[in-house]
Amino acid sequence: MESVNQAGFWQQRYEQDSIGWDMGQISPPLKSYIDQLPEAAKNQAILVPGAGNAYEVGYLHEQGFTNVTLVDFAPAPIRDFAERYLDFPTDKLICDDFFDLSAEQHQFDWVLEQTFFCAINPARRDEYVQQMARLLKPRGKLVGLLFDKDFGRQEPPFGGTKEEYQQRFTTHFDIDIMEMSYNSHPARQGSELFIKMRVKD
Ligand SMILES: C[S@@+](CC[C@H](N)C(=O)[O-])C[C@H]1O[C@@H](n2cnc3c(N)ncnc32)[C@H](O)[C@@H]1O
Repeated sequence: MESVNQAGFWQQRYEQDSIGWDMGQISPPLKSYIDQLPEAAKNQAILVPGAGNAYEVGYLHEQGFTNVTLVDFAPAPIRDFAERYLDFPTDKLICDDFFDLSAEQHQFDWVLEQTFFCAINPARRDEYVQQMARLLKPRGKLVGLLFDKDFGRQEPPFGGTKEEYQQRFTTHFDIDIMEMSYNSHPARQGSELFIKMRVKD
């Protein structure tokens, strides 16, 4: 269980192509969310943590979002992303531990969550909520998907319930939306919640 906190655990999975979580495309609910954003959102500072192969980051970049930061502590997917997107600013490709990001150096308008929360050790969930709130600007948004499912395993993905998430996130966030996603990828239909929440005042 401790090993999921280490970059090596994930790097090895990329090296062995043992990446069952990878959909090979942007998650459909996140594409829909991005597609309805106004033109003015294109300059906002966006973070995609635990981005892996980062289809969401690629899509945002293709759509003209100019201030997107990718964070992952495994170097392999970042290297691959940089090879696929030669014009993506390299200073926005951060190979580091999400929990070590400095809020003095990094402040975001919104964060996109996609199978990162379920990848961390569940014992760190409150730490995730606190760090997320620190990295967001006042009233900044956390948007994305969380599994509403118990996988019953001692390895990622670690699932959870709406009740658990409501309890954890309301310590630092006002929840606007936490509802079963209606347009998930077929493999995840009925098992993920679309979330949109804002850091409390
Ligand atoms: C299950 S994968 C999901 C990748 C991507 N979001 C996707 O949906 O395909 C989890 C990712 O989070 C990264 N990760 C896990 N813990 C991390 C941490 N503490 N800091 C930065 N990245 C982390 C892993 O390296 C891995 O790429």
